[in-house]
Amino acid sequence: MDLHTLLNTLHSYNRYLIIVALFWVIFRSWSGWMGKKQYVKTDNTASLVLLILAHTQLLLGLIQYFFTSAYTTGGMPISDSWVRYFKMEHISGMILAVILIQLGRTFTKKAQLPEQKHKKTALYTTAAAIIITAILAMKGLFLGTLATASAVTQ
Ligand code: HEM
Repeated sequence: MDLHTLLNTLHSYNRYLIIVALFWVIFRSWSGWMGKKQYVKTDNTASLVLLILAHTQLLLGLIQYFFTSAYTTGGMPISDSWVRYFKMEHISGMILAVILIQLGRTFTKKAQLPEQKHKKTALYTTAAAIIITAILAMKGLFLGTLATASAVTQ
């Protein structure tokens, strides 16, 4: 297995972990906010796990983007919709989503009241989830891979 295949496979599987972590954090934060629950250790752990997965994904993505991906480092024309997608839409949308996840955690830590903590996590994480879902779904990558999606959309 070459370096790109390894990075791409890790990036692909880590996407599923991110989706599960997003559900976990969103469920806990909305029910904590609406149900006026205490902000407990598990809430902090859930958001920390999501942050670590998101940063790992960012790192795996950046290495592919600048060094190994044929879509972003090769001479493929920008008129190709997959090249446009990875060079522009995927990177910008995903970086924005990671920033939102990071901001949500930072503001949650600064907030004093449990209700405020749940609210910050809920709003920022939900916004990030909407962006991630939209960016992946537009190319059939929410649950699919490049191999299955290319066959459908090209
Ligand atoms: C939450 C964040 C992200 C998610 C969920 C995500 C998800 C995905 C998925 C599902 C694929 C297709 C993998 C496959 O074919 O099986 C992919 C490919 C790719 N991603 Fe991401 N990604 C994220 C962030 C990023 C970031 C921030 C970058 C760049 C800085 C990036 C760069 C790439 C590149 C270059 C490819 C294509 C690699 C290739 O096949 O040549 N990703 N991503």
